[in-house]
Amino acid sequence: MAQTTETTQTTEGGTAPARLTLPEIGFGTYKLRGEAGAAAVTGALELGYRLVDSAYNYENEGTVGAGIRAAVEAGTVTRDEVIYTSKLPGRYQERSDALDTVAESVWRSGIGPVDLYLIHWPNPAQGHYVEAWKALLDAREQGLVRHVGVCNFLPEHLEALQRETGELPEVNQIELHPAYPQTAAVGGTLDWNLDHGITVEAWSPLGRGAALDAAPVTAAAEAHGVTAGQVVLAWHRARGVTAIPKAAHRDRQRENLASLSVTLSDEEVAAITALGRPDGRLKGQDPAIYEEF
Ligand SMILES: NC(=O)c1ccc[n+]([C@@H]2O[C@H](COP(=O)([O-])OP(=O)(O)OC[C@H]3O[C@@H](n4cnc5c(N)ncnc54)[C@H](OP(=O)(O)O)[C@@H]3O)[C@@H](O)[C@H]2O)c1
Repeated sequence: MAQTTETTQTTEGGTAPARLTLPEIGFGTYKLRGEAGAAAVTGALELGYRLVDSAYNYENEGTVGAGIRAAVEAGTVTRDEVIYTSKLPGRYQERSDALDTVAESVWRSGIGPVDLYLIHWPNPAQGHYVEAWKALLDAREQGLVRHVGVCNFLPEHLEALQRETGELPEVNQIELHPAYPQTAAVGGTLDWNLDHGITVEAWSPLGRGAALDAAPVTAAAEAHGVTAGQVVLAWHRARGVTAIPKAAHRDRQRENLASLSVTLSDEEVAAITALGRPDGRLKGQDPAIYEEF
């Protein structure tokens, strides 16, 4: 059971739901669309995934919702067992736009309140991310969403949320893969988030495939008799991170989930972490300056 109905008091005097515990692995859906996309989501739930990632900007909230609904109707899962995630685009961060957008996300997915709703990017030059955060707190109060968080927020953005609202996000979904491990030297945000009680999700956890042929990864794969993808996903788990790999096909969905039984040594984890490079971001998207709408 992933969710609970208990509540805790916030410093603003409102109530927040008890913390969400994320599974160690979830299912990414970027570029999964239409009938095949919905079937992929249903299939992933059959295999055992319980966390499903989507976004308003992926234009697949309907697809993902249909996939979840089909799994519920087939008796594979109950709706409460699934953590469905969506995200607020940068162009709708002003407070009333944001609330309308959350309502539209709920409508598009068609499976009731969104379990976890994230601000997709801080877009700091636009200067509306605190407003967007307040809108997500409103949306939670109104029952449109159950839990709220962010993506791609740097410590300075998170500190602003805390200062302005007294509440930090439950989740921060960030770019994190072996070439960009978010260590102190490269990216620098993993420990900050974990130290502040924020659950970290890794986006592009496999580096969109680019992470799989590095020597420390293939060496660990050989040593454990597993695939390179499973090694990279086990590396995330060892670092306290929830990875959300996307896989269109059932064999890879199964393979990725089976990484839960792979345990790397501290030396293997360190060797993979050492692959990090300051220029290791996939597309150079630095949240301090990158804006996505
Ligand atoms: N918050 C954000 O700003 C943000 C940004 C980017 C992504 N995301 C989320 O994160 C999710 C994952 O990231 P991503 O899709 O960019 O990249 P990814 O999960 O790192 O990689 C996906 C690619 O790797 C392939 N793949 C999957 N499992 C594999 C395996 N075991 N061995 C070899 N190849 C494998 C997939 O191929 P097939 O599909 O053909 O199997 C696909 O081409 C997205 O789908 C999205 O939900 C969020």
